[in-house]
Parts: sequence; C-alpha cells; structure tokens
Amino acid sequence: MSLDEALSSLRRGDFILLHDEGKRENEVDMVIAAEFVTPKHIARMRMDAGGLICMSINHALASSLGLDYMHEILSNSQNFDVDLKKMIIGTAPYGDRPSFSISINHKNTFTGITDKERAFTISEMAKLYKNENSDKKILFNSNFKTPGHVPLLIASEGLLSNRLGHTEMSIYLMKLAGLSPVTAICEMLDSQTFAALSTDKAKKYASDNAIPYFDGAELVKISKEH
Ligand code: 5RP
Ligand code: CA
Ligand code: ZN
Repeated sequence: MSLDEALSSLRRGDFILLHDEGKRENEVDMVIAAEFVTPKHIARMRMDAGGLICMSINHALASSLGLDYMHEILSNSQNFDVDLKKMIIGTAPYGDRPSFSISINHKNTFTGITDKERAFTISEMAKLYKNENSDKKILFNSNFKTPGHVPLLIASEGLLSNRLGHTEMSIYLMKLAGLSPVTAICEMLDSQTFAALSTDKAKKYASDNAIPYFDGAELVKISKEH
C-alpha cells in the first residue's frame, strides 16, 4: 500500500493497519488520528482488533506535560519497595523498553471504559494538543484523572531513529500527514488461534474493509530518505 493512501486515510479520519516487523512484536495495530476518534472507532477497535486500546503522544507533548515512562516513575517511587522494583521491565523479549506512561480518563467521565467515554478522553487529549491559548500542563492536570482507562504511550525522542514501535511509527505517520501527534492504536488479535492476528489475516481484513495496510519496514525506509 502506498504512503499516500495511508496518509489520505489518516487525514480523512479513517483507520490504517500498521505492521511493525517480523523480528520485533510481529503485530499489526489498528491506527487512527486521535483528533478524529469517535465512539464507533473505539467499538471497532475493541471488536475487530481486540487488543489494548492505547493513546500515543509525541515526546515533546509528554515533556511539556511532565510525563515520564511508567518504568521510570516506578523506579523513582519511594512507595515501590526494592522487591517490587525487581519486577520493572528492563527490555521486552523483542528488545525494547515499553512506551507505557500513566493511564488516564477525562474528568467528565463516569467509569471511563465505555466506547463513548474512551473516545471522549482520547479526542479531548487531541484538543488539548491543539490549544495554543492556555498552558497545556495546567489544562492536562485540571481536565484528566489518573489512573484511568486509556493507557498513554510516549513516543521516543527522535522517533524511528531510536525505537521502531507502533508508538513511534504511528506518531511519525501523523508528522507526515500534518496531523496532531496523538494517535489511538490497538493490536489485532485472533480469537480462533488466541494469538496475534497473522499478517496474512490482517491483510485480508484490510482488503475486505478497504483499509490501507502499511508495513513498518517501508516506513523505516521512508524515514531514512527524509
Ligand atoms: C500497547 C502495546 C502495543 O504493542 C503498542 O503497539 C505499542 O507498543 P510498541 O510501541 O512497543 O509497538 O504494547 O498495547
Ligand atoms: Ca506490545
Ligand atoms: Zn506494538
């Protein structure tokens, strides 16, 4: 699938499917720009993808909000004893540290888990990014609560030059598309095999549903040319 088709889909507020790499997670995530997320999108990710619905943000936004990776927050916590600290993930089996930070709900949610409420939390975060009139950190601290039902992922600084996760790739695609660096992503799982959905099955889902399927290797090539 061409880059232009993927970017057009994202700019229209539609999904793309994004595969990382055979030797990494070898997973396909559904990806959408957070600014366009509706309850219908959350329902579709929940039912058709089935993985964890997360929100990725770029490193600059995370820094301006004072957000750190969860592994750093826990390492630095005095309430996490020395034995609990032994549980903190160094690197996953595929070599990367997790991009997880805190999880959030918008303050105007009830439980935070429904399709409506997760969509609200995610789209309000994209709105926060676009707000140039107020201090983003003050808005974040006063409008969101933690823990919540939307895990935040922080893309590493330098994006694909540092880490080749769906976190970075989805944010890099936003950059190429000229969209806000906030995405909703969700792994595609297979309820027949109980494993990650194979790339063949994901490609079939993509063509059956007219969703662009994009390969991480292609994106890495493009990033090196830019
Ligand atoms: C959160 C995850 C997913 O794999 C997601 O794709 C983000 O992680 P990464 O950037 O490592 O690919 O673990 O559900
Ligand atoms: Ca993962
Ligand atoms: Zn991933």
